[in-house]
Amino acid sequence: MPMPPWFHAPALVALADAHPTPFYAYHGPTLDAAAAQLRTLRSVDRIFYAQKANGHAQVLARLAGHGLGLECVSAGELAAGDGLDAPLLFTPNFAPRAEYAEAFARGSHVTLDGLHPLARWPELFRGRDVLLRFDLGVGRGHHRHVRTSGGDAKFGLAPEDLPAARDLAAAAGARIVGLHTHSGSGIFDAGTWAEHLDALQPLAEALPDVRIFNLGGGLGVPYGRGHVLDLAAVDAALAQARARAPRAVEVWLEPGRFLVCEAGVLVLRVTQIKDKHGRRFVGVDGGMNALIRPALYGARHPVVSLTRPGAPSAGRVTLVGPCCESADVLARNIALPEVEEGDLLALTHAGAYGFTMASRYNLREVGEVFIPG
Ligand code: LLP
Repeated sequence: MPMPPWFHAPALVALADAHPTPFYAYHGPTLDAAAAQLRTLRSVDRIFYAQKANGHAQVLARLAGHGLGLECVSAGELAAGDGLDAPLLFTPNFAPRAEYAEAFARGSHVTLDGLHPLARWPELFRGRDVLLRFDLGVGRGHHRHVRTSGGDAKFGLAPEDLPAARDLAAAAGARIVGLHTHSGSGIFDAGTWAEHLDALQPLAEALPDVRIFNLGGGLGVPYGRGHVLDLAAVDAALAQARARAPRAVEVWLEPGRFLVCEAGVLVLRVTQIKDKHGRRFVGVDGGMNALIRPALYGARHPVVSLTRPGAPSAGRVTLVGPCCESADVLARNIALPEVEEGDLLALTHAGAYGFTMASRYNLREVGEVFIPG
């Protein structure tokens, strides 16, 4: 099973001597490599890192060091950019009024994804530039929970709301300078972002000030198997879409997972082993509280033994956490070497939507450790 290139079991075992498990470990040079890959996209003018994927301060600083901006969805995320030389982009959903004021006060770009802010709080937008987010009707991504357009998605304006948005913006004294769409997360179809650009063009026709097209995030990452997103094909498709666009456009992307997924692993310690009804359960000290992706999306993260790296499989097991929920399963039916209480295991490709979605359920904690390189 392909591991992230930085993955060295002895180094992680040494970290576990110094830090209580469970913890996430993040690897700086792997962040650098992902940022460098995205910088090869010539048809993209600006990249804002979607910090909801991983908000660790050193992760943000490292990515900001590559010239990336920060995409924020809350006042807390806006504040996380303090002290960093990173432009901010606020793309919230149903956020309270005060957070929009906060975003403007911090000099952030602001994206509106409903009519309510302009209709109810016009004074906030006087003299301001805004982007509008649209639901273009097609949701994409690895699970229905991460598809943000189409169906009954709560995100974005419907295209038919455009005249009302334009009139409200004019009445408020705001300028619509950009259009945005994000169709989902974990996308491998390289044409997606070019399709977004094409689909936004007709909406821009009646909006003379629009020059920015934020085509969202969602760039898929292979979790140690399966698909790979062809970045060169993404770029080529975007170049063609730009050439078709009736006016000069500035293209933005806001990826999260792509930048951080491979840079993180979750290190866990085996607590107990149980054989029941012909199944072997291996228990570890962090479960859905530490990483909810398997429970929420059926996500599959590769699991490796750090204590016995490279040892042959001793059979199939179900890896479970210590939480009082039947959904507290980290991996089903996986091959693992022999395990004993106290062994260290790692779930790899866990740098995105791991810690940021962790909870204190059952009053259990999970830590974070940053490895600068
Ligand atoms: N832009 C917007 C407006 C978003 O809503 C998101 C993610 C992104 C960008 C970044 O998407 P990415 O490049 O990371 O796919 N918790 C789920 C993913 C939910 C994503 C939510 N929005 C998971 O663990 O798979």
